[in-house]
Parts: sequence; structure tokens; C-alpha cells
Amino acid sequence: MPRIPCRVVRRCAAVHPLLPLLLAECRTFDEARREFQWLVDGVPPGRRRLARACLARHRHVPLQYILGSQPFGPVEIRCRRSVLIPRWETEEWASALAGRVGPGRGGVPGGVPGGVPGGVPGGVPGGVPGGVPGGVPLRAVDLCTGTGCVPILLRAEWAWAAAAVEWLAVDCAPAAVALAAANERRTRAGRSVGEIRVVSGDVLQGPADCSAVPPRIHLLTCNPPYIPAERFLADVSVSVRVYEPRLALVGELHFYRNLVEKWLDRTDSFVYELGEFKQAKYVRDCIAADGRLNKMWSVGVKFDSAGKIRCVYGYRNDATLDYKSIYQEFGNLIYTPRL
Ligand SMILES: C[S@@+](CC[C@H](N)C(=O)[O-])C[C@H]1O[C@@H](n2cnc3c(N)ncnc32)[C@H](O)[C@@H]1O
Repeated sequence: MPRIPCRVVRRCAAVHPLLPLLLAECRTFDEARREFQWLVDGVPPGRRRLARACLARHRHVPLQYILGSQPFGPVEIRCRRSVLIPRWETEEWASALAGRVGPGRGGVPGGVPGGVPGGVPGGVPGGVPGGVPGGVPLRAVDLCTGTGCVPILLRAEWAWAAAAVEWLAVDCAPAAVALAAANERRTRAGRSVGEIRVVSGDVLQGPADCSAVPPRIHLLTCNPPYIPAERFLADVSVSVRVYEPRLALVGELHFYRNLVEKWLDRTDSFVYELGEFKQAKYVRDCIAADGRLNKMWSVGVKFDSAGKIRCVYGYRNDATLDYKSIYQEFGNLIYTPRL
């Protein structure tokens, strides 16, 4: 990492004596000044509080733990130590997904606004809300939910959904379950949106371990720990390494194998965040090699705006909803079923 030139330190000090403290994390004058303003705006008034916040930043404490929140799509997600801070990469795919599901999407002109459980007049197979034949609500399950940011964003974006979606969020860390539940309540307050049930469970045990998981899932989302242990020290910044939970970060193929072995039969579609192509390839190869799954599933990958592979997704081609339309342009297909 390049050293910070003295002139940058002096330039910061000329603006405010606390500003140089931010250089340890920010590295440049512009970054430090921008962050300083966020701290001035976000920390309760008082010089000592501001100094404490700058000192914490000097010790690489993540800004979101100091300020207590992170904007995520249209919502503000509360952040606490011991729970992973939501990232822009996740926000990006979750927002893209949100935009693919809803009235007029899923291949149905007009779709079904305001879908409610029990069926909606005009509910059309292939549409999404209320369009599931039989009038069942759309069932969305988020695994490894952390702060609950993914389902909370989807719920905020799906204004049409009201009570038409059944939500479930699962995490095994008590701090994450408590924070996701608190974020869920705060972002629901006073609005007519469905509750996201937040439950404690070990995703690796599969749905059988968690009685709250519905018998059929329409949309399974997950941002699992996916940084290989040997890359953790080399690739991850001090701030993340020291202050964010290792349980949320370190993994390799575990959750992708677990998807194929334990969750695929329970869901009609999935979106899993990942860090490398190898993880998407693993899912694709498992599906392609299985004589039953390879006739049902399409698999695709999505890149983020920085050009890095970011998700593997898939959908059943024999499902009740028109997932082909929903996922069209979400990413690029890398496997289509053998007929
Ligand atoms: C990468 S974080 C994702 C958090 C959140 N979804 C997000 O995108 O910011 C992974 C989460 O998985 C949880 N986790 C790790 N192993 C798990 C397991 N076996 N079962 C359930 N949750 C697990 C961690 O506690 C952590 O909250």
C-alpha cells in the first residue's frame, strides 16, 4: 500500500485538526474530507464525540459501525458490530432483481397490481403477484440474511406486494437474527407491507432443519460467506478483517454445494451472490451432471457494474411462474435444460 505524502496530511490538517486521522482508512484528501462531513452530519453533536469517531476511524472501525447505518436502495439499514455491513454489490443485484418482479413483469402484460393472498382478479399464471396459480402468495426466502437488507430492499421496492408476498429470513448468528428483526420492524412501521419473519437456523442443515421454511419457495436469495480461507488474509482489508464477523465472510463451495443438495428441490428459482466464477461453475456442473435436474433448470450468472462476476442464479423451466421472462436480461445464461 503506498505511503501517504506529508503534503496530504498537512492539507487535511489545514481544514480541520481531526481530518488527518481519517487518512489511515481514506488515503486521499478528497475521501477524507467527504467522510469527515459524513461524521460531522451523522455523529451526535459535540467535539469529543466527533474526536472519538475520528479516532475509531483511525483504528479502522468501519464507518457504518460508527454512524450506525448504511443506505441500501430506498431504505436505511441499521448496522451493528458482529453483523456484516451490507455492500453495494449486494444492493446492486437486489435492486436489479426487485425491478424484474412485479406487475407487468413475468411475461404478463399488465401483470397483477396489488396482489393479495387468496388470488387476485386477473391473476394470470406467468405473472407474479397474485399470479401464482391457485392464488398462493409469492414465497420469498432469504438465507444468510445478516442485517436483513435483501428482503427489506425487495419489500420496499415491491410497493405492489402489500400482503401478496410471504417473507422468511434465516441466519444462524444470534446478533444477525436480532438486528434483522429490528431492521424489519423499523422499516415496516406504519406501512402496509407484509412482515418478514426472521428465524434462527443453520442453512447448511437444509430446509428440513427449519420448520418455518414453506413447502414451496418461489424466490430463494442468499449472500453466503464466500471468501476462501486462504484468500481472507491477502484480499480483505484490515477494517473488514478485524471488525466484521469472519462467520459472515469465509466460505468456499460449502453454500453452493448445499444449494444443490438441500435447497434446489424446495425452490423454483434462486439468486446466490458469489465471489468467483468457480462457484457458479460448481452449481452449473452439478445441475448439468444430474439426470433429473438437468432437464429442469436454467442457470445464469450476473456481473456487477465493476465488471466482476457477482451472482449465480437459476430457475425451473417447468414452474408456474414465467421465470424465463423474469430473469431475462438479469444476467447471462450459462446452462439451459437438456430436452
Ligand atoms: C455475507 S453475510 C450476508 C449478510 C446479508 N445477507 C448481506 O448481504 O449483507 C453471510 C451471513 O450468513 C450467516 N451465516 C453463516 N453461516 C451460516 C449458516 N450455516 N447458517 C445460517 N447463516 C449463516 C452469517 O451470520 C452472515 O450474517
